[in-house]
Amino acid sequence: MYKVTLIPGDGIGPEVAKAMTKVVETSGVKIEWEEVNAGETVMEEFETPLPKHVIDTIKKNKIAIKGPITTPIGKGFKSVNVTLRQELDLYVNLRPIKSFKGIKSRYENVDLVIVRENTEDLYAGIEHKLGNYGAESIKIITKDASERIVDFACNYVKDNKRNKLTAVHKANIMKLTDGLFLDVFREVSSKHDINYDDLIVDAAAMNLVLNPEKYDVMVMPNLYGDILSDLGAGLVGGLGIIPGANIGKDYAVFEAVHGSAPQIAGQNKANPTALIQSAVMMLRYLEEYECADKIEKALGEVFLKGEKLTLDLGGSASTTEFADEVCKYILNS
Ligand code: NAI
Repeated sequence: MYKVTLIPGDGIGPEVAKAMTKVVETSGVKIEWEEVNAGETVMEEFETPLPKHVIDTIKKNKIAIKGPITTPIGKGFKSVNVTLRQELDLYVNLRPIKSFKGIKSRYENVDLVIVRENTEDLYAGIEHKLGNYGAESIKIITKDASERIVDFACNYVKDNKRNKLTAVHKANIMKLTDGLFLDVFREVSSKHDINYDDLIVDAAAMNLVLNPEKYDVMVMPNLYGDILSDLGAGLVGGLGIIPGANIGKDYAVFEAVHGSAPQIAGQNKANPTALIQSAVMMLRYLEEYECADKIEKALGEVFLKGEKLTLDLGGSASTTEFADEVCKYILNS
């Protein structure tokens, strides 16, 4: 029996979290969920969007899965997601982007992995006003953080028998910050027995739209990773599909790439695939390979059959109907 911290989040979070736990339990793995929440919904009770007990339970269980949490735009509290990543030193953000047969999209054979640095860059949140005429945000890139993310990416390529690692950067303009990232990338990659190259971020955006099949594992600083992950989601059917894992030395927090989608919250319309796939990543992290494979296979069968797709994929099934269909295929496997 595993004990996992479950943070349902807000917006569509609680709906997709309920669908995810049902699918995971149907796969047969024994998990006790320790449910806590963070964000706007707990502000009044705890006077903070990220109460200490939430961090404490993740530290105790060492593993968590979370739904999205709304972040106020241009004002209000700092992103709970970013704070969690920094507090727990979850330095890797791993986002596999893979086509499913049966999901309509312009491309058929996308199989990319984005490895996003998760603790620094413009996401360090160091900003200040310049009098009344402007504002400044500081971009931090360090040698240590660059080394550990590139090292993770190189090992990922080897362990998963992938073909190539591509670094994404803007070192032609940001010669010191992205220049440091690129230097570290070349130095660390040359010590691993892998193929590697690099690409400027604007070219990466265009090439990913033109020929996504040409790319394999890509490693990059925080902000580029954020943007290219959503671009990647668009290549394979949208944000409802793409999972993610925040991984550190001691803890791991699994979460979808998408946000709280307030427009469809509370309507049983959201696609829970992204969080279900995040749970598949979690099960593999726990070495529960058989249950992970069962869920992944069932998802593939539901998409191929195409009868119970959610609205974002052109279907009319609700969140719960989709989850029930996945459970049906798991039970029949
Ligand atoms: P979003 O990802 O919530 O939505 C973008 C678009 O994708 C919307 O049209 C939405 O309806 C659709 N969408 C997203 N997930 C879907 C799903 N599972 N099924 C069907 N359609 C889905 O991004 P947006 O609107 O920029 O952000 C909304 C809020 O979420 C913001 O407060 C933002 O800060 C927060 N956010 C939180 C994240 C997290 O908790 N990890 C990540 C990204 C955003």
